[in-house]
Amino acid sequence: MQGRLDMEGALTTRDRVGIQDFVLLDETTEVAIISNLKKRFSKDLIYTYIGTLIVSVNPYKDLDIYNKKQMDVYMGVNFFELPPHIYALADNAYHTMLTEFNNHFILISGESGAGKTEASKKILQYYAVSCPSTTLMNTVRDKMLMSNPVLEAFGNAKTLKNDNSSRFGKYMDIQFDSQGDAVGGHILNYLLEKSRVVHQNHGERNFHVFYQLVEGGSDDLLTQLGLKRDVQHYYYLTQGECAIVSSINDKNDWKSVKNALQVIEFDETNTNHLFRVVASVLHLGNVHFDPDSKGHALLKNNTELNWVSDLLGVDANNLKEGLTFRKIEAKTEQVLSPFTIDHAIYVRDALAKAIYGQTFTWLVNRINESMENKDSPRKTVIGLLDIYGFEVFYVNSFEQFCINYCNEKLQQLFIQLTLKAEQEEYEAEGIEWEPVQFFNNKIICDLVEEKHRGIISILDEECLRPGDATDLTFLDRLEEKMGNHPHFVTHRLADKMTRKTLERGDFRLLHYAGEVTYCVVGFLDKNNDLLYRNIKNLVCQSKNTIVRECFSAVDTTNKRRPETVATQFKNSLQKLTEMLMAKEAWYIRCLKSNESKQPGQFDEALIRHQVKYLGLMEHLRVRRAGFAYRRKYEDFLKRYKPLCPATWPHWRGMPADGVEVLAQHLGYLPDEYKMGRTKIFIRHPRTLYATEDAYEKCKHDLASKLQAKYKGYKVKGEFKKQKEAATKIETCWRGAQARKEKEKRAWAVKVIKKFIKAYINRGEAKSTDNSEYLAFVRQSYLNRLKNNLPKTVLDKTTWLTPPAVLTQASEILRKLHYRLMVRKYVRGIPPQKKAQLQMKVVTSAIFKGKKENYPPSIPQLFLDTRISEQEINIRVLSMIRNEQVKYSVPVIKYDRNGFKPRPRQFILTKTAAYLVEEAKIKQRVSYNSLKGISVSNLSDGIIVIHITCEDPKQKGDLIIQCEHLYEFLTKLSIIANKQDAIKVVQGSIKIQIQSGKENSVDFTTGQEPMVYKAKNGHLMVVATRTRTR
Ligand SMILES: Nc1ncnc2c1ncn2[C@@H]1O[C@H](COP(=O)(O)OP(=O)(O)O)[C@@H](O)[C@H]1O
Ligand SMILES: [Mg+2]
Repeated sequence: MQGRLDMEGALTTRDRVGIQDFVLLDETTEVAIISNLKKRFSKDLIYTYIGTLIVSVNPYKDLDIYNKKQMDVYMGVNFFELPPHIYALADNAYHTMLTEFNNHFILISGESGAGKTEASKKILQYYAVSCPSTTLMNTVRDKMLMSNPVLEAFGNAKTLKNDNSSRFGKYMDIQFDSQGDAVGGHILNYLLEKSRVVHQNHGERNFHVFYQLVEGGSDDLLTQLGLKRDVQHYYYLTQGECAIVSSINDKNDWKSVKNALQVIEFDETNTNHLFRVVASVLHLGNVHFDPDSKGHALLKNNTELNWVSDLLGVDANNLKEGLTFRKIEAKTEQVLSPFTIDHAIYVRDALAKAIYGQTFTWLVNRINESMENKDSPRKTVIGLLDIYGFEVFYVNSFEQFCINYCNEKLQQLFIQLTLKAEQEEYEAEGIEWEPVQFFNNKIICDLVEEKHRGIISILDEECLRPGDATDLTFLDRLEEKMGNHPHFVTHRLADKMTRKTLERGDFRLLHYAGEVTYCVVGFLDKNNDLLYRNIKNLVCQSKNTIVRECFSAVDTTNKRRPETVATQFKNSLQKLTEMLMAKEAWYIRCLKSNESKQPGQFDEALIRHQVKYLGLMEHLRVRRAGFAYRRKYEDFLKRYKPLCPATWPHWRGMPADGVEVLAQHLGYLPDEYKMGRTKIFIRHPRTLYATEDAYEKCKHDLASKLQAKYKGYKVKGEFKKQKEAATKIETCWRGAQARKEKEKRAWAVKVIKKFIKAYINRGEAKSTDNSEYLAFVRQSYLNRLKNNLPKTVLDKTTWLTPPAVLTQASEILRKLHYRLMVRKYVRGIPPQKKAQLQMKVVTSAIFKGKKENYPPSIPQLFLDTRISEQEINIRVLSMIRNEQVKYSVPVIKYDRNGFKPRPRQFILTKTAAYLVEEAKIKQRVSYNSLKGISVSNLSDGIIVIHITCEDPKQKGDLIIQCEHLYEFLTKLSIIANKQDAIKVVQGSIKIQIQSGKENSVDFTTGQEPMVYKAKNGHLMVVATRTRTR
């Protein structure tokens, strides 16, 4: 269902816009062609193919089909894949040139106003935009593009047919190097319509440049050139009575021209001289003559003549003479013969035409120099031939004769090339040539150009004939010679009916494109195109470099007559034809849609006429004579292979065989197609249609199938690829792992073996067998030890048992570690505690292991003093201050006699110890006189201080009891430096009482601590037992 709809859709679309290629029309009638053109034109489809020829219908409106986007679309695309377009042809020619490395030309033909010049500009633009480029190329390109406005200003004019009609033929070569870069250009110009300079028909203008200069030139420039800003002021600009036209903006165009002149590198001098020539022509046109008494021409006034002489840089008097007298050279002398007024005007106009015409040629040469390709040697060209189309006016003159002859020649070329090409193709493909019926216009070409018998020869003869040759004698001659030619008629030769349509001075040619009646008036003069010698000599000496260059090239000394205009033209056409014959041809046939230059109007009669004279029917017939359609096997197969299961999706054999299989499958009948060497030829369009329709239908089905298949294929493919990759990686990985494992095991076996051996030999001296093992043992012990070190100095048990080899080292390490810990501990002790400990060390040295209550005293901290200075009587203090009080402690003093206990303060200074009672110092014991100190080994607090007896002031040994015995004695021993003086005794201590009397303090243990005077008179001290830890 979907397929059916699509197929019908395609058919209706094709129907609506007609057929893109006339070759595929079912019938080759004029009606069918015109109706197809009309259909397409109504949808703004102005291009249609006949094979590779393009038929273009002037739309007279801007279509949005010439933008960069469109160019990109057509770039490098197969000719028939896209709708017909001039870009397709340009691109195809370009790519063929590149691949086949040969020369091409594009012949653009059609009647005036049909769009030839526009077409050539579009092609040039296409190449400019889409060819590869470099900066160098860009300048060449700019010059090629910019040569257009300049040439159009000087060579185009408004005619009745076209507001911008080219009045010269133009052939432009675009040169490409082998990379396809545009590297240069060259222009050939043909037969400028010079008569326009001096005369314009009603409704027509002179060449654009005159109007542009007068309208657009700056005030300064106009003053310099002696011009008024008023086109109506100039005779040469006003004969057509339409100097100002709304569709032309001369002022703007002048700007473009000036800009273009800069791009093509015209310097100031050249530009200036160019404008002077243009201005001189305008002044020349305003030179008028009056008759003198004898009817000879006299200059009305000299103003205009002086301007001409000034602008051209020629002598004014000589110029005046040249315009009014003819110099006749007799044998010995020169004779001046005065002109009639008509004659003078003729000479004036001849001069104007000559300088303008020569300047135009000079301009083309200058442009060529500027576009010249100077370096790339290997190059191919694409020529663009934009030449005047067939012209039929109410009155047709020498120019129309030349122009139409030119078209006749091009038609001949076209026939030859197409037929030749077609025949050659058949031969190359090994297909039998079947003659084609068509009108060959060679007979008309011969009528015009044949040597000695053709019209041009007869014209030349009349021009050369001495005596009274006139345009009418020329006509007589024609009648004589051409009397019974089927394509030639005159008033006299015609039958009754035809005679009515002819004037006496007319001759009529039956051109391939239709009849044209020519008026012979002016033929001889125009063909001669003579400048009198004195005028020629004059301009040769011009101070205007352009004019001088133009005319000095023409050899004035040569007495032989120069070639006539018609002969020159004939020869240049001959050359052109030869040149084109050597190139591959592409054709654009331009048709005018209507005479009034209106968009959307399709004048069927006008179109029919053009279709006829452009030879479209012939072309089509030739193309379809044998086979309407042909295509390279590869291309045909590529397009239609989905139509046959054997060729889809790939044909593995030769393309020709594939096409044969395909043709069989599609049911082509044997006489419907032929197989050439490289191409298939299909006789009837309908065969191709059927194929194309089937293809259209199949394409949609295929597209969705392909899409689905491709998606599936893509997903599957991706999965397969990933899986393969995964397996590969896995295999590699496993292999690598296995190899690693094996190596590891082998290594392990070796190591274990070695270890066992070493273990057995571990007790032996270090050897190669056990060294590694021992090193391991050492390392492992040290590692374990590191993690199991004792944390404190007091922890003496934690130490790992070392292996035999490390016994010594372990001991050293252990000591080191403890020292380290001690060091750390000691460093961490604050100064106060340090002093305390230092004192405790002293205490320990004296008492450790000697006195029973020493151990429990150790944790009790020593204080700085037990009595603050405030508690000491002020009088006592004042007495001993200078000795510095170091320590004070409350004690109980036992009298020597009777041992009565009395509480006292005991104060230590730097030099002595004082026993104080309130404000009284009871006793002073200088450290010098301190003989010793005794304490018991028990837990009492009794201290006996022995004092030297020799000191009379002393009262004998002191017995005191102190709660802070250790603190007191430590301080005393340090302050008095009496460590060695302290004795710990057992049992009893002897005491000296003054004057040699002795007593004793006895120590014992009991339930209760007591101190009392025993019956034996000793002091009895009872201490409780201290539990030892
Ligand atoms: N492709 C086109 N698109 C739009 N207008 C066109 C086109 N071709 C021609 N014309 C119109 O027709 C006029 C005449 O075209 P031109 O190329 O000068 O004719 P020719 O050179 O054949 O005498 C142009 O000035 C333009 O207005
Ligand atoms: Mg043109």
